[in-house]
Amino acid sequence: MLNWLRLSGRYLFEHLEAVFNVSFGDRYNPFYYLGSLAFFFFWIVAVSGLYLYAFFETSMLGAYSSIEYLTVDQWYLGGVFRSLHRYASDAMVITMGLHMLRELVMDRYRGVRWFSWFTGIPLIWLVYASGIGGYWLVWDQMAQYIAVMTSEWLDWLPIINEPMARNFINQASLSDRFFSLLAFLHIGIPLMLLLVMWIHIQRLSNPRTNPPRVLMVGSILAMLVLSLIKPAVSQAPANLDLSVSTIDIDWFYLFVYPLMEKTSAGTLWILASAISLFLALLPWMPPLLRKPAVVVNLDNCNGCERCYEDCPYSAITMEPRSDGLDFEKQAMVQDSMCISCGLCVGACPTATPFRRKTDLIPGIELPDHPLKALREAIIEQTATLEGDQRVLLMGCDYGVNLDKVALPGVVAIKLPCVAALPPSFLDFVISRKHADGVLLTGCHAGDCHERFGIEWLEQRLAGKRDPMLRKRVPRERIVTFWAGEEGGRKLLAEVSRFQQDLAVLGPYTPPQSDVRRRASGTEESA
Ligand code: HEM
Ligand code: SF4
Ligand code: SF4
Repeated sequence: MLNWLRLSGRYLFEHLEAVFNVSFGDRYNPFYYLGSLAFFFFWIVAVSGLYLYAFFETSMLGAYSSIEYLTVDQWYLGGVFRSLHRYASDAMVITMGLHMLRELVMDRYRGVRWFSWFTGIPLIWLVYASGIGGYWLVWDQMAQYIAVMTSEWLDWLPIINEPMARNFINQASLSDRFFSLLAFLHIGIPLMLLLVMWIHIQRLSNPRTNPPRVLMVGSILAMLVLSLIKPAVSQAPANLDLSVSTIDIDWFYLFVYPLMEKTSAGTLWILASAISLFLALLPWMPPLLRKPAVVVNLDNCNGCERCYEDCPYSAITMEPRSDGLDFEKQAMVQDSMCISCGLCVGACPTATPFRRKTDLIPGIELPDHPLKALREAIIEQTATLEGDQRVLLMGCDYGVNLDKVALPGVVAIKLPCVAALPPSFLDFVISRKHADGVLLTGCHAGDCHERFGIEWLEQRLAGKRDPMLRKRVPRERIVTFWAGEEGGRKLLAEVSRFQQDLAVLGPYTPPQSDVRRRASGTEESA
């Protein structure tokens, strides 16, 4: 049932994202940056909040009038900041909710990822507590409604000795001290939120806390326009001697109150706790079947740190040498943090298929995908191809299903992630003429399932990241195509266009220097 729900959710997200890919392109699709957008909106809320706080008066009469002053008299700055504060808070709830759903339906919440998921749950509570606290500070009729309902909700807990509702019986029962406490909480809770946001990304290396600049500028502009067209305003001032009749509420933050009115404080507690518990247990319902972690072969590890730098989950540490070899450091893998993506294998300089005599055992390797077997698969499968438009297609489990690609002159090999392929293998395929060209495919460009697979691979191909693809490899014989699972038809068109280009290029002729090197036996001939 859960699996069915996840797959349906995934289907919906993919179709929605396809629409956004048309207008934003797949490198700037906001759906691929929901977590970083939530971070960005937090900073807008924090900066605009600081400005508002400078003018805010922490007293029953002063609270409403100071916010009115900002909204009406200082509409050009204070009013705009107030609207930005509100709209960025709403945007934070929306992006957080979508981010959570997306991680769930894309199956990025189990296994090693449980930590980010688990720490996301207190974030939901803290975001709501921060937002509701903010509405309370305005002390208009909506705040009065929140005050009465929240105190009813909290008073339901048997641990509260003095009922909070006592503060809101009438105007005389409320003191200015209460507003100082509220203001203190409205700063303290967001600070706690920031701390938990920081913890949330601790297990990820290079976490993306900033969305691409174009998304930042676009969302700020959109919120500024909205602030001018529909500025955030207060409702009538609160008056505890009168009961609140009809008010407009912000449904993103305050939907829980009408729910409580329809049910009861106890029901809302049970519902909120049950949902939180359910979410907390989700990564183990059922747990992800984990693949074996990578293993380090110390005999071939020179301590270069490339695997350590490229691992997206900080699963590798560099330790002092333990085997007496003349290197300073050695790689060490923390199995419980490894998602078996193979990005480290693709980064290891010792993972080269051009080995002479010695077996192909790199410094670091996936037990399920030994590179020796990959080299053999390449040789065997490409041997079945004929002509001068032979294409080796290489992809992963999260892109187009390569098992379904049946085209003349094309063979396909699957990898855990395309970046698990050391660039020297591309050199090997082309220079040994196993195929006329290689097409690498996988997830959407901004949304690699293994976080950095596409980015690292593109940098290695472009000679901007170690290990770089050697200059002798003709780039026109290597094509990348990022289209996600649903890009099957486009992929077929891309392959046929590539084959036409290869036909124009004709058979590959290796440079004379390479021919001499092989003749002298400095490279293995496969
Ligand atoms: C204030 C709200 C939140 C913010 C600002 C936030 C931010 C982020 C950021 C910046 C990342 C790293 C993205 C990357 O570099 O790949 C991330 C990852 C993640 N978040 Fe959140 N998040 C929030 C709430 C949540 C919630 C409520 C959940 C779920 C309960 C959640 C689940 C996850 C998971 C599972 C990952 C790891 C994804 C992966 O390993 O590929 N987050 N979040
Ligand atoms: S397989 Fe992936 S997660 Fe595991 S150590 Fe290598 S790069 Fe890190
Ligand atoms: S990339 Fe390879 S050689 Fe370099 S530290 Fe990692 S395992 Fe060792």
